[in-house]
Amino acid sequence: MTKQTIWITGANGRLGTELVKRLETNKDYKIIDTDKDVDITEIKEVEQMIDVYRPTIVINCASISDVNYCEEHMVEAFRVNALGARNLATSSRRMNAKIVQMSTDDIFEGHSLTGFTEFDTPNPKTVYGKSKLAGENFVRELNPKHLIIRSSWVYGASSEDYLRYVTEKGKNGEAFQVPADVFSSPTGVTQLADFIEKLMNLAEYGVYHASCEGSCSRFEFAQKILSLQGFDANLVQKKWTGEEGEIISTRLENLMMKMTGIYEMPDWQAALEQFLQNRIN
Ligand SMILES: NC(=O)c1ccc[n+]([C@@H]2O[C@H](COP(=O)([O-])OP(=O)(O)OC[C@H]3O[C@@H](n4cnc5c(N)ncnc54)[C@H](OP(=O)(O)O)[C@@H]3O)[C@@H](O)[C@H]2O)c1
Repeated sequence: MTKQTIWITGANGRLGTELVKRLETNKDYKIIDTDKDVDITEIKEVEQMIDVYRPTIVINCASISDVNYCEEHMVEAFRVNALGARNLATSSRRMNAKIVQMSTDDIFEGHSLTGFTEFDTPNPKTVYGKSKLAGENFVRELNPKHLIIRSSWVYGASSEDYLRYVTEKGKNGEAFQVPADVFSSPTGVTQLADFIEKLMNLAEYGVYHASCEGSCSRFEFAQKILSLQGFDANLVQKKWTGEEGEIISTRLENLMMKMTGIYEMPDWQAALEQFLQNRIN
């Protein structure tokens, strides 16, 4: 069997790191990992990578994903999240390669906990969400062999995620505030990477939502992280970001996953418990 050459961009980021670590162990893959050393906003750099390595799959994990930073650096956010995705889409198409574009629940926003399916119309409110949606659109239009995978609140891949932030607060016995009115689904990086690997090897294309089942607020997520590790759950305090009594939800419903039967995501609480147990043992 010939090896698949897989180019992973944003390989030093949270998801990229996990994907490289995981896929590198499979001898059927040859992994090419790049981060800012290959700037995806520079078409010449992207074209050169495609010509030299001739990947069969490009997984785009490169992103400016700090929501507040994106608000203040709109041009940079669109350059990386939209133009970068466009460059990868046109170049991968030229090589007849598949592109896997990572995206986010932030392309949606509503006030009900009914999840957004792949068939709902996006309505991003933030620069981050808008730039990620623009990236999706480029990929969809420019390479027919595309997979767009949207996920939410991914934890477990890095020292900089929400889980580590809350855990540090717990360890230090430090009180902190998080939104009680912002809802989505915490998603384990293990499950997300599992799904990406499975999907990329199938003759499947289009948009897939990939979040753990169920939903919670940032506040509930923090409480669970603290209590499962034996820390004082009262350290976390509620903060309100919107109108009183109103919730802001970006929760995704994995409808395509369910209809195709390709993968089954666990409940977010079970996945979190399992993740923390594995980490402690
Ligand atoms: N983490 C989550 O909770 C989450 C949830 C839903 C969807 N996603 C999506 O999943 C993907 C990966 O997210 P992540 O959390 O792993 O992001 P991340 O940790 O911010 O990683 C992105 C990586 O891309 C690099 N990068 C930035 N500009 C670049 C450029 N011009 N060329 C090449 N690389 C560049 C970043 O470098 P610097 O750090 O130096 O900027 C970083 O190493 C993104 O598409 C994101 O939208 C993430």
